[in-house]
Amino acid sequence: MSTRFVFSTLLAASAVWAHPHLEYRATPQVYDACINANDIALTFDDGPWIYLRDISDQFTAAGAKASFFMNGNNWDCIYNPDRIADVKYAYAAGHQISSHTWSHADLTSLSTPQIQDAMFRMEEAFSRILGIKPAFMRPPFGDYNDNIQSIAAARGQSLALWDWDTGDADGNTTAQSEAVYNDVVSAKVSNALILEHETEQTTDSTLVPFAIKLFQSKGYNLVTMAQCLGVDPYQAIGVPQQQTASWTCDGTPDPGAACGGSIACETGTPVFSSTTTAPSGPTPTATFIHPTANAAKCLTAASNTDGAAVEIEDCVSGGSTTQGWTVSGSNLQIFGSKCLDVTNGVTTNGNKMQIWTCAAGNTNQMWTLSGNTIQWSGQSICLDLTDGSVTDGNLVQIWTCTGGPNQQWTRTTGGVAN
Ligand SMILES: *[C@@H]1O[C@H](CO)[C@@H](O)[C@H](O)[C@H]1NC(C)=O
Ligand SMILES: [Zn+2]
Repeated sequence: MSTRFVFSTLLAASAVWAHPHLEYRATPQVYDACINANDIALTFDDGPWIYLRDISDQFTAAGAKASFFMNGNNWDCIYNPDRIADVKYAYAAGHQISSHTWSHADLTSLSTPQIQDAMFRMEEAFSRILGIKPAFMRPPFGDYNDNIQSIAAARGQSLALWDWDTGDADGNTTAQSEAVYNDVVSAKVSNALILEHETEQTTDSTLVPFAIKLFQSKGYNLVTMAQCLGVDPYQAIGVPQQQTASWTCDGTPDPGAACGGSIACETGTPVFSSTTTAPSGPTPTATFIHPTANAAKCLTAASNTDGAAVEIEDCVSGGSTTQGWTVSGSNLQIFGSKCLDVTNGVTTNGNKMQIWTCAAGNTNQMWTLSGNTIQWSGQSICLDLTDGSVTDGNLVQIWTCTGGPNQQWTRTTGGVAN
């Protein structure tokens, strides 16, 4: 087999493997600046911590996106139930979630197995909590060398640095940090990749509102780091796992510390649950319907009764009968005999959906699946994610078809185990 043949085989294989929504998966590299004009990426390190939700909300309210570089065991343990909920919250809001390694140790002082361990544990936490494989790792203190870069590259991750530092966690006053933002504007930069810390109270209360207002008033787009580079934020998006007692920081490296001694170094790759491979189970061909923006969420029937609500919930690992739909002609069936149903046939925007016993010819149950839209057959009305919210329990509605993101649904197939 010639070298050329191997090379072209690899190219073909990677084309087949590409997740459909990936725009461009860069070869892992070191990024210390944005690429796209007019984009500013505000990045926040060292969480998850108690200000994450509020920072997320401020960006969401401004129609903007942020990037969070997280540790597993630094200001808090990422497996603290509050932190799990906060991480899911920021991810669901569409912000970029990336690795800042497990314990925030200076990687340049670690051995190769210790560096791998620091990356592994963070990948494992993201795989468990969010069902994602990160595409970016920010080395603590920005310190790295060739070995660290190649270990990260082997794990599919680019190194994420910055070109402006607010110094918010290095003793700068808020006025000094604000001066950095003003410098960015005065320099009339084409783009900027700016370092902040979500662990600073004044960053949440003062710097974030200041920066959002300043940069938006100057016409910059506040986007994720991946967006300002034009690459995908994740190597893969799968499904979150069910929490178990092994989700703990006990027996893992303390903040600033590394594996070794009584803590075995993890050098492999963590378990990852993919939506694209069918889980085993008695029903092999269920269809799962996800908001296109969030593959971790599933269209869910609240119960197997006529009139039960249809809502958004975390996808159940292994597949659930409450989330396993069957496309049958124009019907979207669930529990064998129930159908997605326009409640009372009311055409008003905002009418919330229900399930009802399937009946042949019932036009309230007829849907046209075209691309990523699910359209009420014969109507210019589409299945719509109410307010774009992926909060568990959000009821799904109908709305005039807009082609917008709230009406984009992705279907995957898999089994139903429970
Ligand atoms: C702190 O603020 C000053 C003044 O705005 C700025 O020049 C400096 O880069 C900031 N960062 C650090 C890490 O000191
Ligand atoms: Zn840090």
